[in-house]
Amino acid sequence: MSTPTSQARYSSLSIALHWFTLLLMVAIYVAIEMHESLPRGHALRRPMEEWHIYLGVILLPIAIFRAVMILRSNIPAIVPAPPVWQHRITLAMKVYLYVLMIGNPILGWMMENAEGHVVTLFGMGLPSLVGESEALADVVSEAHEVLGVSGYFFIGLHAVAALYHHYLVKDNTLVRMLPRFGKKDSNS
Ligand code: HEM
Ligand code: HEM
Repeated sequence: MSTPTSQARYSSLSIALHWFTLLLMVAIYVAIEMHESLPRGHALRRPMEEWHIYLGVILLPIAIFRAVMILRSNIPAIVPAPPVWQHRITLAMKVYLYVLMIGNPILGWMMENAEGHVVTLFGMGLPSLVGESEALADVVSEAHEVLGVSGYFFIGLHAVAALYHHYLVKDNTLVRMLPRFGKKDSNS
């Protein structure tokens, strides 16, 4: 990721995509939890799994676009600057969040193909990433589950860290990721 700058906030596009991604992730998790908690034969069980897949597939290009964008743009500096060890943890967390947002849709897509299903989006069949294989389906399904479930913990930690910075450290970590309503920042 590029070096920090003194601009006050992330770009409007980064901010919009960040919060839109949060909504998508909530819907992805709600859909799969509903799918898993509904009894077999329930009318909503299959649609919930389908929505999980649709939304996960929609997230993939958005996450790739965000990753490319963040690598090519400058990161607004946190004021006052946190210690170096915190900066390293933050960087590791961002890398993890991208692995989750890009890796899990790919694993989910591979799982479907390995199980012999074609992934569809709005009725359109998407190309298969791998051939049918029960052994591969098992491995990929396990990886998808482990990475997906780890998201509950790490996204929670990411959100708590943002609130900790805002309310206890009282720096601008969170404000940098909030939309500007009306008034423009003097130094952006
Ligand atoms: C970032 C996006 C995604 C996240 C965070 C995610 C997360 C999860 C989680 C937590 C589960 C439940 C695992 C369990 O407890 O057994 C799950 C199941 C599942 N996911 Fe995803 N997923 C994502 C994207 C996708 C995509 C794009 C597909 C398909 C193209 C997909 C296909 C599936 C399927 C078929 C299941 C059910 C597996 C089963 O019944 O064993 N997921 N996902
Ligand atoms: C209530 C939930 C959330 C809050 C309060 C929150 C807050 C923040 C804040 C304050 C930053 C800036 C951190 C910094 O620059 O050091 C940030 C960055 C980031 N957040 Fe979140 N976030 C939330 C949910 C999510 C979710 C669900 C994801 C994706 C799974 C996510 C992915 C990221 C990524 C990748 C960055 C790095 C900046 C970028 O690439 O645009 N966040 N978040």
